[in-house]
Amino acid sequence: MSTTSEPAGRKTALPDGSGSEESDRPRRQIAPIPDGAVPVMEAIGISKGFGATTALVDVSLKAYSGRILALLGDNGAGKSTLIKILSGVFPPDRGELRFNGEPVRFSSPAEARARGIATVFQDLAVCELLSVTRNVVLGREPQKGLGPFKWFDLRRADDMARSALHRLGVRWERGLDERGINISGGERQSLAIARAMFFGSSLLILDEPTSALAVRQAGRVLDHITHARDQGQAVILITHNFRHALSVADDLTVLAQGRVAANFRRDEIELDDLTDLVARVA
Ligand SMILES: Nc1ncnc2c1ncn2[C@@H]1O[C@H](COP(=O)(O)OP(=O)(O)OP(=O)(O)O)[C@@H](O)[C@H]1O
Ligand SMILES: [Mg+2]
Repeated sequence: MSTTSEPAGRKTALPDGSGSEESDRPRRQIAPIPDGAVPVMEAIGISKGFGATTALVDVSLKAYSGRILALLGDNGAGKSTLIKILSGVFPPDRGELRFNGEPVRFSSPAEARARGIATVFQDLAVCELLSVTRNVVLGREPQKGLGPFKWFDLRRADDMARSALHRLGVRWERGLDERGINISGGERQSLAIARAMFFGSSLLILDEPTSALAVRQAGRVLDHITHARDQGQAVILITHNFRHALSVADDLTVLAQGRVAANFRRDEIELDDLTDLVARVA
């Protein structure tokens, strides 16, 4: 793929006149994937249909430790379906998943979570009936007491939630006992990301994590995603924002009508070509 004339590290203005999130991010050299490296997650020949709808056809993908894979494509391309399969929400009709080289079949999201796969779903990011704290610590609730006499350690859970939100740059003015149903879309995404990032995982999957966020908060989320990558996590990031994708990704995969349309390393493509490509194959 040819590259455009956009020079490396150029500052690009956003429509709101502010600097772009990636302008503060130095352009990195993207290392090739080392020969023989085993992906944390590999999908091989995945197909999935919903009744008459074909969502995925023979899709393969590899996510490596210490790399961010951006998964791009138009509405309905199959992105969310694919990451739901990787996260154990439903099984593929055909194809195989390998986790650290070992074939796996997840029969529930809890099974995938237990393997260290942390997913922030596009929908259902937050449990509406649970408090902010409960949402952050969900699945890893701290307990106190001994033996059979164990109960939820609310104070420690509140500390964990406060610290997770603080690390994410979310200023939470209201009580941590606020229920999920009362919080905004952007706040829900932040909570879900806090939850996914707070607990060490080997694969972090984020489906449109920045779409509901203000510019500054989106920048923070991208910082945290790169931090997770630099700590050695494998990251799959779904976004419609190509600038966000290009600013953090090491590798990019474009889905179109349920098939893989293209794979690139970040330094093989620039914004204009990527935008053209996604529009052309949609
Ligand atoms: N649970 C479901 N039941 C029936 N059809 C579904 C279901 N989930 C997804 N689909 C269909 O599968 C196709 C792929 O959808 P998917 O949600 O994976 O796309 P996407 O790439 O995530 O799109 P978007 O960018 O809009 O989020 C679409 O045609 C969609 O309508
Ligand atoms: Mg989707």
